[in-house]
Amino acid sequence: MKRRSFLKTAAAAGAATILSPGLAGLTASSCAKDPAAGPATSDWNFDEVIDRSGTWSIKYRRAEGDKLAMWIADMDFRTDPVVREALRQRLDTVMGYTFTPDEYYEAVAGWLRTQHGFAVEREWLSTCPGVITSINQAYLTFTRPGDKIVIQTPVYDHFRMYIERLGRIPVENPLLWKGDHYEMDFEGLDRLYDRTVKALVLCNPHNPVGITWPRETLASLADWCAQHDVLVISDEIHADLALFGHEYTPFCHASETAARVGMIFSGPTKSFNLAGLSGTAWCVIPDPVKRAQYLAALHAAKLNEAAVPSLVATIAAYTHEPLWLNDLKKYLEGNITCLEERLKASPETRGIRAVRPQASFLLWLDCRALGLPQEALMALFNEKAGVVVNNGASYGMGGEGFVRLNIGCPRIIVEEAFHRIEHACARLIHPDAMIE
Ligand SMILES: Cc1ncc(COP(=O)(O)O)c(C=O)c1O
Repeated sequence: MKRRSFLKTAAAAGAATILSPGLAGLTASSCAKDPAAGPATSDWNFDEVIDRSGTWSIKYRRAEGDKLAMWIADMDFRTDPVVREALRQRLDTVMGYTFTPDEYYEAVAGWLRTQHGFAVEREWLSTCPGVITSINQAYLTFTRPGDKIVIQTPVYDHFRMYIERLGRIPVENPLLWKGDHYEMDFEGLDRLYDRTVKALVLCNPHNPVGITWPRETLASLADWCAQHDVLVISDEIHADLALFGHEYTPFCHASETAARVGMIFSGPTKSFNLAGLSGTAWCVIPDPVKRAQYLAALHAAKLNEAAVPSLVATIAAYTHEPLWLNDLKKYLEGNITCLEERLKASPETRGIRAVRPQASFLLWLDCRALGLPQEALMALFNEKAGVVVNNGASYGMGGEGFVRLNIGCPRIIVEEAFHRIEHACARLIHPDAMIE
């Protein structure tokens, strides 16, 4: 079926609300909806295209004209209505200096216990000023300038960026590509180790390749780090978004050794789409010596005081049944499946392959079959297709030939992105190609 008429048919069957002026030509999603996801409730509708102009969105600042913004890791959905209502109510009260109430610790501990089977003591927990700010504080607390910190590439680019800015040395231990999935390279760790290696930053689940690391891998990593006296700084910000039946294991819950060598940084930022609140983070540090040292550093820098919206949003997000979150995950699975199927069926995209994420809304696209240099690959997506993605090479060794595509948006946008990518690929061979 031709694209336009296909969209019209879908629109007649139940169109998404179109609010964004730049996307006024779009009418509805044509990928079948996952029946398990059920109808959108009156409280949330992930199909709705929300106009983010005027909200100072970093994502949309880079998407001029009618380009699709599918890069930085926030989603184009409003957060859970329960969280919005809690924030609204709190705004009507006095915004004075505020302490972190017991309810906050109970909410975080309760969430970890019920959602992830991880029982944490109240004193293991602290509020944090954002995951990256807090991880940076860990570099400052536990390492010295010139020390080496291991990152497992391709990985979230802010790890390397701040390790360097803080005068430490990032050492790459690239993940091993096994043809259809990645594994951690323990022999690589042995090869790179010397006495100046003081810490390793783990990304669990891993951004951008989407792995929820298996418990055995985490336990082996903990053993290796214990033997070499290396601290594990585990970024678990994507934890609540495990998909397709995969399970997330908190690093410090993987083994007793892991609890001793590790510290976890996480929060509802990604799962409840709260990045703009800046600071809905918390940490878990089971080891009393590391905890005392780290919390003293946070206090010294006055980084231990959470803002009211962060406290209110976190408590609200964690203390009710996660109906919205569960629906969100099904919707994300639908988006991923939709794009995977389209790519598989298209001769034009010539083997661009999605590495299926086990968690979160970031799709790692293997474009090596196109045979383009990285710069040309980026131009293909960002300029020719008008789909703004992240450059795979920015995530370090192993990222060349890949791009990262954010599918945390209405399905109609995912479909439109696919059509634009397909069209741009077709024009690589036939510059005048038109795909209907
Ligand atoms: C793995 C990972 N860690 C941390 C962050 C940012 O966290 P925060 O905004 O709390 O610093 C992101 C955002 O994309 C991320 O993907």
